[in-house]
Amino acid sequence: MDQEKAVRRIAELRKMIAYHNARYYQQDAPEISDAEYDRLMKDLQELEALYPDDDLASSPTQRVGAAPLAKFSPFSHPQPMLSLANAFSSEDILEFDARLRRLAGTGVIDYVAEPKLDGLAVNLIYENGLFSRGATRGDGTTGEDVTQNLRTIGALPLKLHSAARPFPEFLEVRGEVYMEKKPFEKLNRRRAIQGEDPFANPRNAAAGSLRQLDAKITARRPLNIFLYGAGLVRGAAFATHWEILEALAAWGFPVNPLVRRAPDIAAGLAYFTEIGALRPSLPYDIDGVVLKVNALTLQDLLGSVSRSPRWALACKFPAQQAVTVVCDIIVQVGRTGTLTPVAVMEPVTVGGVVVSRATLHNEDEVLKKDIRIGDTVVVQRAGDVIPEVVRALADKRTGREKAFSMPVHCPECGSDIVRREGEAAHRCVNLACPAQIKEHIRHFASRGAMDIEGLGEKITAQLFDAKLISDPADLYFLQPQQLLALDRQAEKSVRKLLDAIARSKTPPLDKFIYALGIRHVGERTAGILARHFGGLQNLIEADLPTLTALDEIGPEIAQSLVEFFAEDHNRKLMAKFARAGLAPQSPAQTDGAPLAGAAFVFTGSLESMGRTEAKSLVEARGGTVLSSVTGKTSYVVAGSEPGSKLDKARTLGIPVISEADFLKLVGR
Ligand code: IVH
Repeated sequence: MDQEKAVRRIAELRKMIAYHNARYYQQDAPEISDAEYDRLMKDLQELEALYPDDDLASSPTQRVGAAPLAKFSPFSHPQPMLSLANAFSSEDILEFDARLRRLAGTGVIDYVAEPKLDGLAVNLIYENGLFSRGATRGDGTTGEDVTQNLRTIGALPLKLHSAARPFPEFLEVRGEVYMEKKPFEKLNRRRAIQGEDPFANPRNAAAGSLRQLDAKITARRPLNIFLYGAGLVRGAAFATHWEILEALAAWGFPVNPLVRRAPDIAAGLAYFTEIGALRPSLPYDIDGVVLKVNALTLQDLLGSVSRSPRWALACKFPAQQAVTVVCDIIVQVGRTGTLTPVAVMEPVTVGGVVVSRATLHNEDEVLKKDIRIGDTVVVQRAGDVIPEVVRALADKRTGREKAFSMPVHCPECGSDIVRREGEAAHRCVNLACPAQIKEHIRHFASRGAMDIEGLGEKITAQLFDAKLISDPADLYFLQPQQLLALDRQAEKSVRKLLDAIARSKTPPLDKFIYALGIRHVGERTAGILARHFGGLQNLIEADLPTLTALDEIGPEIAQSLVEFFAEDHNRKLMAKFARAGLAPQSPAQTDGAPLAGAAFVFTGSLESMGRTEAKSLVEARGGTVLSSVTGKTSYVVAGSEPGSKLDKARTLGIPVISEADFLKLVGR
């Protein structure tokens, strides 16, 4: 194909794919098969690779079709994302109002009241009316760039309307990504059928869906968004928060229809009660209402303390409770052999979610609360997530209730149960206990550890019961035909799982150490060990004095590590991992590129070196140097007599550093 033809074909393909994207993702009514779609996408990708052009950035290949990311890039919020102070009662709310009136010196404060959505906060940037980038909240200063994933949310406008009101040149807008309750349940049912672990609640499902490295997965999840505020804005001015909400709606953003003006605190309290009553019937989860001072001048005057603005308050609903009956108390065996009593209850709806199980933590807890089998109990969802048994209603007892006692033999393997001195937990001491092994493998594969997607509780149990795996290393020896022989395993899911397992063969060392499930070694400790020892072998060989000499490694952790690596079974496991081709990557291997992902722009002249040298210093450390300041710039280095790039950096809120800071960054 000659260039001219290729250019035409590229334009044609882009248009077609954009159309089919809308049919599939927004209208839920695809016209072509996945295979046909994939072929169009592949053609376009190939042509774009041969004939790159200026519109590449907005091509559908960069939208959902793009290859999965290795990890998210950091995103510095132009304006920090703050959190909210909490109130748990009407007294707290009245006190908040009294404090503000005192500080402001006024008799009455005008508020805006909004439902407090239970999803995850995001920050979106629109440049000249076009959605350009978006990120999660992260630590409030730096979040994760999830632009590609956000683009798949149908409700999120990619282009702003300007009919009712011209849009600003630069807009930072804040909102909450969430999943409605019904689609959430449907998603979980589908996951159950496919043998994947269900999400605990809509918020986790929303967060897990938005934080997918492969935007194609996000696109299939029923995500939604409401916008509730602005950050940095250039090219529009507002006097009140209400005006901001109106402008957002005019520009085409979804704004929660339940937002309301509350001209005084009495109206705010009434709103809190009203929304509380509405809560069970809303299609999405909320955990309170937010009151915000309406006048922006007053907001500025009040300012913020310790990362929360003084002008806003999250009024939380009390925990939702319900009454039900405990049918049984069963005992579950965890990864370290810990036995956990779990109450099995008559299913009951607590705040819109059906609850039938609740952890009772340990024997002492059961005895302290005096919960018996057959008891009528009060259950609640604390923080509206994990259900717990609050208390038994003793006056409902009939005398037929049965007190609970820990079994003396493991319910899974029949081995002895011990309770070590000073510990609340009972444990099964049999290292070969099937329940422990299954849990151990699950932990190994979990997020934060080896992160093997698709290896949930069900498939782990299936593989274990079929004797295909008896330790985590066995995962790497699995063959497709073995998996296909299992119940309900189709070719596609088998291939996906085996790919995910294969991809996990070069984990960061700290993730691998954590994945081993060594007692007392959590993610933080694993990080310390990985950084100090650099390689697995060094850690295996470390003795007690070396380990205890490390900062933050106490005698308990050190002892646990030494015991772990001295154990014959574990030594064999390490050898088996090596045979499987598992190669944990030491932190040193990434240290060669300390500036990986960072983009620099220079303005003005540097004293100690020329631009070329500065550029090569950055590039040698994995960073890039750009010629102009955009939202993608990580740092602007200002030398003497800086130019207009400095102003641009300031307006975009991009960190500006001095030559001295720059030298420190590159280790000079
Ligand atoms: S305003 C400075 N409004 O609650 C004000 N937040 O702890 C910052 N949230 O992370 C937030 N609904 O994700 C605001 N209508 C609403 C909200 C809301 C939910 C979340 C938000 C934030 C958290 C605050």
